[in-house]
Amino acid sequence: MRVSLEDFEASCLQCQRCDLAKERQHVVVSRGNPSARLMVVGEAPGADEDAQGRPFVGRSGRLLDACLADVGLDQTDDTYICNLIKCRPPGNRRPTPAELKACRPWLDRQILEVNPEILLLLGATATATLLECRTPISRLRGQWTEWQGRYVMPSFHPSYLLRNPSRDSGKPRSLFMADLANVKHALNGVVSGLTQDSSDP
Ligand code: URA
Repeated sequence: MRVSLEDFEASCLQCQRCDLAKERQHVVVSRGNPSARLMVVGEAPGADEDAQGRPFVGRSGRLLDACLADVGLDQTDDTYICNLIKCRPPGNRRPTPAELKACRPWLDRQILEVNPEILLLLGATATATLLECRTPISRLRGQWTEWQGRYVMPSFHPSYLLRNPSRDSGKPRSLFMADLANVKHALNGVVSGLTQDSSDP
């Protein structure tokens, strides 16, 4: 691993920037390939992730890995997977604005270090927070957006797909698979329908 990325991880593992540090078992930094062209960003670690110190290792993660594999993306080689915030909010509640703000410099540095061409944002919180916009996920999902010189694809969070398991056409699971297929195409050099500006009018 690159020295600067190692430095980043070592500092992140010591983080005391918010009260989540008090109750965590692990700081959950990443899994996957630090040289991947695709970074996947979720919301926050849950109980399994807090216990193991790796993101998306519970039910949502297993579904995510299976969906990535279905479009020919390997979770270990083709992706670098992380979250908006690195410590588990108690009871899996939503991260507070203060926690999101405290943790944001870690994500910004992570993005700079990994330098992905494409970011796949999982769910409304990851999308609204990273893009700093209030446009509903229902409008942004499936649309390429440019953000700081990178392509961004907002989509559903896997936990939402677990609650909506139908694979019928037009349902969240099939829309998510279409978004992943779109990402796979983009990695092959085809980005269609790029939206230039995702911010609020
Ligand atoms: N949900 C997330 O957003 N991230 C995880 O790591 C696990 C579940």
